[in-house]
Amino acid sequence: MKFITVDSYEKLSRQAANIIAAQVISKPKSILGLATGSSPIGTYKELAKKCDAGELDFSDVTSVNLDEYVGLPVENDQSYRYFMNTNLFEHINIDINRTNVPNGCAADLEKEGADYDALIESLGGIDLQLLGIGLDGHIGFNEPDDVFTKGTHVVTLDPSTIEANARFFASEDEVPRKAITMGMGAIMQAKKVLLIANGKNKKDIVMQSFYGPITPKVPASILQLHPDVTVIYSEN
Ligand code: F6R
Repeated sequence: MKFITVDSYEKLSRQAANIIAAQVISKPKSILGLATGSSPIGTYKELAKKCDAGELDFSDVTSVNLDEYVGLPVENDQSYRYFMNTNLFEHINIDINRTNVPNGCAADLEKEGADYDALIESLGGIDLQLLGIGLDGHIGFNEPDDVFTKGTHVVTLDPSTIEANARFFASEDEVPRKAITMGMGAIMQAKKVLLIANGKNKKDIVMQSFYGPITPKVPASILQLHPDVTVIYSEN
């Protein structure tokens, strides 16, 4: 594991974007695993800048996102599909038909999960998976549990996650209680993993995840078993 500490969110974002850019330059047909939330916003802005400057070409890239809220249609501005469109996809030259986000409104969510795993497998797996981390150690929406779950599945969000994500909604009551998330299988099979975390409040969980025991109670701790993980952390 490579653990990089920087002293600002801007530096974190630039470094993360450079790692993703290097991936896309070395393999234009990369399969990128992408995340939502506040952590990657700066990274996505940097990627858009590089694309604008003609330094980066996403035209052959395929993306697969980690997760989506259950019950939020794509037009809802809190859906993760909407987030990806507005924070990244509309600002780079990716083919929107090659961007994938689990469908949280699918009639049969179990089938949606199986189909999503089959899609990732048919793409040959993920080349680089970008991750944030929740205050409870979740990656994607793999919440603390008694077991690590392999496939894409529906989860009930932890009260701490609902509270943390309430900042994006008009009130906590509006935060969906369920989400569909990629499981640990696809994440662990990604060739490279890049986890970004910023803020003093994330320090404890980052340390527990990468230097504490490996346990499904701290989902991100499974990454200690991954052969190619880069963590970029900024306290600010
Ligand atoms: C989002 C995701 C989550 C977030 C995590 C941190 O797609 O998979 O695991 O990365 O909740 O969120 P932020 O970055 O908002 O602190």
